[in-house]
Amino acid sequence: MIGNLNHVAIVVPDLDAAASVYRQTLGARVSEPVPLPDHGVTTVFVELGNTKIELLHPLGEASPIASFLERNPSGGMHHVCYEVEDILAARDRLRAEGARVLGDGEPRPGAHGKPVLFLHPKDFCGTLVELEQV
Ligand code: CO
Repeated sequence: MIGNLNHVAIVVPDLDAAASVYRQTLGARVSEPVPLPDHGVTTVFVELGNTKIELLHPLGEASPIASFLERNPSGGMHHVCYEVEDILAARDRLRAEGARVLGDGEPRPGAHGKPVLFLHPKDFCGTLVELEQV
């Protein structure tokens, strides 16, 4: 059911420093910071040949990644995003398999403007999983 790895998201305490690590140290193509107020994050996109890395930093008071950064003050891997062709069919299949879909289970526009859902880490080997319809 899942297709390509769309991105790996890493929460960082300092977006400029993290962007510099990817741009200068690792020699990657790195975007300017993109604020996403609806998601409570500012994102820097790192474009790789076969996937992306998203560097995430909290934005606003109620950022969903603020507590993650408190638990992981030097940052850490936050989620992986897999592509699916039909996000509603994927959601229904996963629920039938006993997996938990976070929130109200309704897809909403993600960082790339396409519908996304998140799946409970306890059902997926301890990793928060995002599904994105492509
Ligand atoms: Co993501």
